Amino acid sequence: MKISSFFYFFNFALKTMVFKQRKPILGTIIVTDKCNLSCKHCAVNNITGIIHPYEKIKEEMVMLYKMGVRILFFCGGETFMWKDGDKTLRSLVIEAKNMGFLDVVVVTNGTFTLDLPEANLILLSMDGGREKHNAIRGDTHDLIMQNIRRASSNNICLYMAINNINIDDIETVTTIARDEKNIRAVSFNLHTPYAGTENLMLTREQKDEAVKTIARLIDEGFPIFNLKSALPYIAANKFPTPCYQCVVVENGKVYTCGRCIEEKGLCEQCGYLFVGEYTLMFNGNLRIAFDMLKTYLKYI
Ligand SMILES: C[S@@+](CC[C@H](N)C(=O)[O-])C[C@H]1O[C@@H](n2cnc3c(N)ncnc32)[C@H](O)[C@@H]1O
Ligand code: SF4
Ligand code: SF4
Repeated sequence: MKISSFFYFFNFALKTMVFKQRKPILGTIIVTDKCNLSCKHCAVNNITGIIHPYEKIKEEMVMLYKMGVRILFFCGGETFMWKDGDKTLRSLVIEAKNMGFLDVVVVTNGTFTLDLPEANLILLSMDGGREKHNAIRGDTHDLIMQNIRRASSNNICLYMAINNINIDDIETVTTIARDEKNIRAVSFNLHTPYAGTENLMLTREQKDEAVKTIARLIDEGFPIFNLKSALPYIAANKFPTPCYQCVVVENGKVYTCGRCIEEKGLCEQCGYLFVGEYTLMFNGNLRIAFDMLKTYLKYI
């Protein structure tokens, strides 16, 4: 992280904590909901199948920048399926960096060629070792490993959504993150039970077991891009929601925190670790603020 970015975030965090500001810092643009996969745990793929035009996405970038967003995520559907004429996802990343976003992150299922050296981070979903990942995501694990090894830069962070199929594979994925030269770390979420995916939910005991494993692996020095201090709050679903510092834009519509805010009762069962980490920190939990500082400086 550049020193100028660091001071921007520090200043933002301080103002948010002291003045209880509700301005956003992290924004996500959904470039399409079209996807080449149909994962068991996912409720947001191929609903409209629309690939949003370049001009629309550019307008959304400008709007987010004016709102104060400086960490920009591009997400889908499958984000790499986005294109418009000669514009590709890489063009969007470069445009965002030129516009002044300090961190630009792309979320992907990893089935496309990874040539995005301009992105600060590529969050690449891997939901287990070969067997469990393929059970959730179809037969894609080998292809993803090949794409990781052939990637043009080492800006990859694995992204695992833990559910009752893959809960025993946390260490397997973390070991891949440690051993592959193009991977910096792994970041976890717990399954969020969107309508139709409740069968994959973790019990309270399983959530405790998952966060205990993650905490142990952090202690053992594995590269994990989550905050150990936030894990007990997340297992207990004891963190404020929604996250007012996060916004999502899809087709011009702005959602506070996530599109899932419109699903009744879902926030009380939220499994997105970044939500807990952000809301606890911005509500003045200094232990988490310190942990975040340490972790972000290490991995971004
Ligand atoms: C919706 S996908 C879009 C980007 C890309 N297609 C991918 O799979 O990474 C973004 C992330 O959300 C995660 N996700 C999907 N459904 C989820 C759920 N019910 N609970 C937690 N995470 C979920 C996916 O595993 C993925 O890491
Ligand atoms: S690849 Fe991503 S968007 Fe597509 S179905 Fe899987 S989780 Fe959903
Ligand atoms: S807090 Fe609610 S809106 Fe935010 S990510 Fe979780 S479920 Fe979605």
